[in-house]
Amino acid sequence: MSFKRTLVTSALPYANGPVHIGHMAGVYIPADIYVRYLRMRGEDVLFIGGSDEHGVPVTIRARKEGITTQEVVDRYHSLIKKSFEEFGISFDIYSRTTSAIHHQFASDFFRKLYDEGKFIEQTTEQFYDPETGHFLTDRNIRGECPHCHAQGAYGDQCEKCGATLSPEELINPYNAETGNALVKKPTSHWYLPLDKYQPWLEDWILNNHKEWRQNVYGQCKSWLDGGLRPRAVTRDLDWGIPVPVEGAEGKVLYVWFDAPIGYISNTKELCDAHPDKYGTWEKWWKDQDTRLVHFIGKDNIVFHCIVFPSMLKADGSYILPDNVPGNEFLNLEGDKISTSRNWAVWLNEYLVDFPGKQDVLRYVLTANAPETKDNDFTWADFQARNNNELVAIYGNFVNRAFVLTQKYFEGRVPKAGQLTDYDRQTMDEFLAVQKQLEELLANFRFRDAQKEAMNMARIGNKYLADMEPWKLIKTDPERTATVLNLSLQIAANLEIAFRPFLPFSSAKLREMLCLPEANWAHLGHFNLMKEGQALGEISLLFEKLEDSAIQPQLDRLDRIRHENEERQREEEMKQWRPSELKAATSIDEFDKMDIRVATVLECKPVKKSERLLEFRLDDGMGGRTILSGIAQSYPDPSVLVGKQVLFIANFPPRKMMGIESQGMILSAVNADGKLVVTTVSREVKNGVQVG
Ligand code: 2FM
Ligand code: ZN
Repeated sequence: MSFKRTLVTSALPYANGPVHIGHMAGVYIPADIYVRYLRMRGEDVLFIGGSDEHGVPVTIRARKEGITTQEVVDRYHSLIKKSFEEFGISFDIYSRTTSAIHHQFASDFFRKLYDEGKFIEQTTEQFYDPETGHFLTDRNIRGECPHCHAQGAYGDQCEKCGATLSPEELINPYNAETGNALVKKPTSHWYLPLDKYQPWLEDWILNNHKEWRQNVYGQCKSWLDGGLRPRAVTRDLDWGIPVPVEGAEGKVLYVWFDAPIGYISNTKELCDAHPDKYGTWEKWWKDQDTRLVHFIGKDNIVFHCIVFPSMLKADGSYILPDNVPGNEFLNLEGDKISTSRNWAVWLNEYLVDFPGKQDVLRYVLTANAPETKDNDFTWADFQARNNNELVAIYGNFVNRAFVLTQKYFEGRVPKAGQLTDYDRQTMDEFLAVQKQLEELLANFRFRDAQKEAMNMARIGNKYLADMEPWKLIKTDPERTATVLNLSLQIAANLEIAFRPFLPFSSAKLREMLCLPEANWAHLGHFNLMKEGQALGEISLLFEKLEDSAIQPQLDRLDRIRHENEERQREEEMKQWRPSELKAATSIDEFDKMDIRVATVLECKPVKKSERLLEFRLDDGMGGRTILSGIAQSYPDPSVLVGKQVLFIANFPPRKMMGIESQGMILSAVNADGKLVVTTVSREVKNGVQVG
């Protein structure tokens, strides 16, 4: 199917924090590369972005920072917008879901479906905080995890064991913010009956979009295989777009209902403001000749492939996405990126530390794009890719071509003479790589595409190294002129090939080459630089990064890791609730335990064991050895030497790691999971009984 135009959207980031490298690698850089490529090919394309300003994440942030929700979204919307501009994400519009246009549009969208009877209304029992008078969203409910019994698990997930939960499963649920106990109260909401769309979705995705990325297709299939159920599209909240139905006071549209409509309302905002340039918004959203592509991260797949298309289908007048290139996640130094744990490289901070190096980050993030599986960003890799690829291959080639032209031909493009077989072979190789590059770009395989662009630079580098113009000039100036002419032609081609990936460096190179803007159709032509044309001023495209520039980043992450561990400990202490009492027992049962006091003479880690400590005790009965699994809680076990501890003396001996353990030392399990050895409040004789 051929299309007349392409509409590209990228997930609207929540305006509850700055943007980080995970967002960039997963969504915005790939979308930008694609859009820049299409524009360079002269295609009609629109790139829509904006901030997602509703939903619970922004309200949580507001309460945490003690400011209003509006202040939160204002602050982060501006910050995010600025970061995108600074990194060259070339949106045609970057708007926001608190705009009046969006509120009206989303409200009308809902109302039309409501009037046409596309929703079902259902009353269910939801958790309610009687003191604050609010219903709570899953994220705002906490309690004990039914699986691992960790305290403070969220209503949608336990962060300790990773289990997906529903609030009903939590033991003793409470309001995460106030700590108040919750009750169940009936409330009614509107649901989109996804089950009704299931047969249509199955046909549309599973039969007709087999070309979608495997991870996207696979996730859709498993949702569909599991059977779809009606989904609530409204919430009891005071932040969001009011439900435009009488009697629905206190209810707003669910954020995942209004956010994707933001793609449409932002298009409308743009088209209404510039009708001559962009035409009508309907042309972009309702004309079958428009190709719609959503760039998203994997956590958004269900919303973009199942929920939003069902909304569009329910309306009946919209086109549907032709492709949804969804990426997996990028980790940072082996750990999941997290806004709340500050485990991220924030774009605004990156630019303070690495001013002018937007393209280095763009390059490294594309090189590690999590296209098929989760990937990892490390500072060591960042440094290596900058130094060994951008500087040593691309930058080095361009620099040598320029410097040698300066030196031997007064900075003017030398005249090309007869081409040799080797010249032609070099050009052919270049053209073959170009073909690969184009195929990869068209198929959303940006990581491999960028590799091919770098391979083009490699071809140039090899050509110069093989031709050795610095030697050739002594014997054959005419041939040297041809070699440098071809090298400059290759440099001009690299400017084009790299432009979707590294727009800032290409702009710089274009200025150095004094080349008027060339488009994609010029790629593969070796006559872009005119003979005799003067080159501009030489400057380095990329600069080597020393260890001293990288070390502060590693130090920062170490500091954050440490702060997070501390915070988690404090949080666990705060969340702690006493466990339920064990079943009743009797004094006779207790009497069977022979608990005594002993002094620790020696305490050391057991070799090859991460858990065990070996205690040598004076038990008043000739001494004994006991092994205890508390090594993680006592990194320096010598602090226990000289302490009197309580131990069970009549457990049968047991061998562990080749050592016989003669009893058990009693420890309290603290709220943070650390074990604390029990002791007596004043000195007693070793060997006395506890009872
Ligand atoms: O996951 C997120 O960050 C959401 N704010 C994405 C919304 S995408 C779209 F629907 F607007
Ligand atoms: Zn758990």
